[in-house]
Amino acid sequence: MMKTKVVRIRPPKDKSDIKGRMRNQKILRKLGKKLREGEVIAIPTETVYGLGANGLDKEAVRKIFSAKGRPSDNPLILHVSDMETVISLVRHVSPLEKKLMERFWPGPLTIIFPKKPHIPDEVTGGLDTVAIRCPKHALCQAFLKEAKVPVAAPSANLSGRPSPTTAGHVYDDMKGKIFAILDGGACEIGLESTVVQCIDDAIVVLRPGKITEGMLREVANDVRGNTEDVGAENVPKAPGMKYPHYSPKGEMRSYVGDSMAVGNRIREDVSSFLREKEGKVGLFISEEVKAHIAGTFNKEPRVRTIIFGRRSEKEAYGKVFYQSLLTFDKEKVKLIIAEGIDEEGIGTAIMNRLEKACDYKVIRLEEKK
Ligand code: TXA
Ligand code: MG
Repeated sequence: MMKTKVVRIRPPKDKSDIKGRMRNQKILRKLGKKLREGEVIAIPTETVYGLGANGLDKEAVRKIFSAKGRPSDNPLILHVSDMETVISLVRHVSPLEKKLMERFWPGPLTIIFPKKPHIPDEVTGGLDTVAIRCPKHALCQAFLKEAKVPVAAPSANLSGRPSPTTAGHVYDDMKGKIFAILDGGACEIGLESTVVQCIDDAIVVLRPGKITEGMLREVANDVRGNTEDVGAENVPKAPGMKYPHYSPKGEMRSYVGDSMAVGNRIREDVSSFLREKEGKVGLFISEEVKAHIAGTFNKEPRVRTIIFGRRSEKEAYGKVFYQSLLTFDKEKVKLIIAEGIDEEGIGTAIMNRLEKACDYKVIRLEEKK
């Protein structure tokens, strides 16, 4: 077993803190060299933490798969620090792809391109295409510049587990398995990037994320949400979407509906759980739903409640979603009940992850007339 280093970078005190800046630069330069030489290093991004390796070195990339326990036909995303690097990795950039990069990079958007032959099959799962993303996270950017190679990185969780949004989560899954974790604090978005592929003049969304279909319509008229809707035989899918994902250890279900209906239903479920089962129940709910079950379980130590914010605060929901599942797991919660939200905007991405996390046990409650 190797000893996994957790590397913390203290931000320089101010612009004149040249010593601080040089110290950080030196740390990143060393880490970049280690990655180039074949070590696996977990990196922060604005979406979730990634498990990074030299994307041009197939041996290094294989280490990612073995650390994660991931099926090798599930391709990885290459992370780059600028648009220029893309040219060296892909056979062709269409005008629409160029527009996407100019509008959304650096940021939480992954684009699938036709790949050049020197990108190892280990990265692309043998596909003729490669996924590329340019993250915005400042420390990630600085690291990618020092790495000087495209960094292949899936989310830094064990395969099938919720994605990590703090260095601590990565450590829980990866300690002893990888060389280092670069600690960049908690991820701002908390959900994986939007994955798209351009087909002629259309943008096909393979995985929903923070960059929504509405935002993509700023650069193309034809944006297709769900691969199932597209109809055409040759429409690609993100291979990763077919695997079970993001599952917490506890059993999980979700309710969607007006806050009174959801509150009532949760109250019934929790009461019967407390009567019939042992262990803890975890609630992931809004302020509004909390208000409806107000006080009922306040003194009950077997009920663990996490409130994400108000119903309208979807960004807040996304930011703490995986983190909350991991917290419930740590506290050995047996049943998790999560409130669902409407699918507007980032709600599409949230409901996509929520459905997978609870194995599609999303129950839509009728509004009481
Ligand atoms: O936000 C993110 O995207 C994070 C951070 C670390 O960048 N990464 C991430 O990677 O979520 P991963 O490996 O967990 O998910 C990548 C998704 C998978 O669903 C995979 O199948 C899909 O992208 N993908 C990768 N290459 C592809 C390709 N050539 N064609 C179609 N889908 C691809
Ligand atoms: Mg993942």
